[in-house]
Amino acid sequence: MIELRHVFKKYHTRAGDIPALVDINLQVKRGEIFGVIGKSGAGKSTLIRSVNLLERPDQGEVLIEGKNILTLSAKALCQVRHNIGMIFQHFNLLSSCHVYDNIALPLVLLNYSRKEIQKKVEPLLELTGLTQKKLAYPRQLSGGQKQRVAIARALASHPAILLCDEATSALDLHTTQSILGLLKDINQQFNLTILMITHEMEVVKAVCDRVALLSQGRILELSTMAEFFTRPKTEKAKKLIETLSHRALPEKLLKNKKEQFFEGSVPIWRIYFTGNSAQSPIITALIQRCALEINIFQANVETLKEDTLGIMDVTVKGDPKQLQLGVDYLISQGARVEVLGYV
Ligand SMILES: Nc1ncnc2c1ncn2[C@@H]1O[C@H](COP(=O)(O)OP(=O)(O)O)[C@@H](O)[C@H]1O
Ligand SMILES: [Mg+2]
Repeated sequence: MIELRHVFKKYHTRAGDIPALVDINLQVKRGEIFGVIGKSGAGKSTLIRSVNLLERPDQGEVLIEGKNILTLSAKALCQVRHNIGMIFQHFNLLSSCHVYDNIALPLVLLNYSRKEIQKKVEPLLELTGLTQKKLAYPRQLSGGQKQRVAIARALASHPAILLCDEATSALDLHTTQSILGLLKDINQQFNLTILMITHEMEVVKAVCDRVALLSQGRILELSTMAEFFTRPKTEKAKKLIETLSHRALPEKLLKNKKEQFFEGSVPIWRIYFTGNSAQSPIITALIQRCALEINIFQANVETLKEDTLGIMDVTVKGDPKQLQLGVDYLISQGARVEVLGYV
């Protein structure tokens, strides 16, 4: 549906060239919600803007439904763009137009008749829960409502693809959940392909089927959500996922924690489980089979789109051989173990 092949992009600035995208390869399947996560400056906006050529790559191919759009004429490109909606962090609504006219705008530009426009806009108002607000101006709306208008506008020309650039980053937690719910709905209802970029792990966790981790213009990791948390392929990716997840240890432990083993210390493990690997039997087995003394000090279960992710922080007492046995056992059960330090 969307494919980037060996995409490179540099920005030329007075201070020198900035490599914003370096050899990006990815494929987003039809009907999929695909996330790209990374810190600020990683190249996320440049990547998503390459998909509709708001930003033109220096090298590589951008394929939409199998067609390299870099080689299209201006007119043909225009047509492809009608098939790609986009929403932004700051909504980008026209402040002088009310809700209805904001949503109608792409259709006005396409020269639809007033009647046709009405036929398309009314159901979009319904879909996004804005029927009561159709004559309100953006300044009279909450952030969540503004983003709903932007979503309705993006859907007005019936695109097959929706690009979301930090679409929930300006919203509070509750509103974020409701916008993500709406995106999931329209993904299912219209089999819409969604590419979203974000710096918030909660967002990809809630809605994405697959995710790519971007760092300094490069893809460090590209996998399903479950794999992303339990089996990142490189140390660098592991560290970055950790940072982006903001999963902190309790204050007391953090204060006393050392990076290296010291006399009389025990390791702190963070154990990730997904899917069916139920947690309590595994921990019981760990205690019994590996003769480890385990102290659980925090645990929680998070919901992924298609899966659950359990995260448990424990301290573990045992001799090195038992500890290794424990790690091996956890891995054999599909879990991942990270040593966070020693206390
Ligand atoms: N128009 C531009 N001119 C120069 N540098 C830019 C421009 N846009 C982005 N950059 C730089 O390119 C890098 C990637 O930026 P961006 O794609 O906006 O990252 P992100 O969206 O992940 O924060 C950053 O170092 C940023 O400063
Ligand atoms: Mg950005």
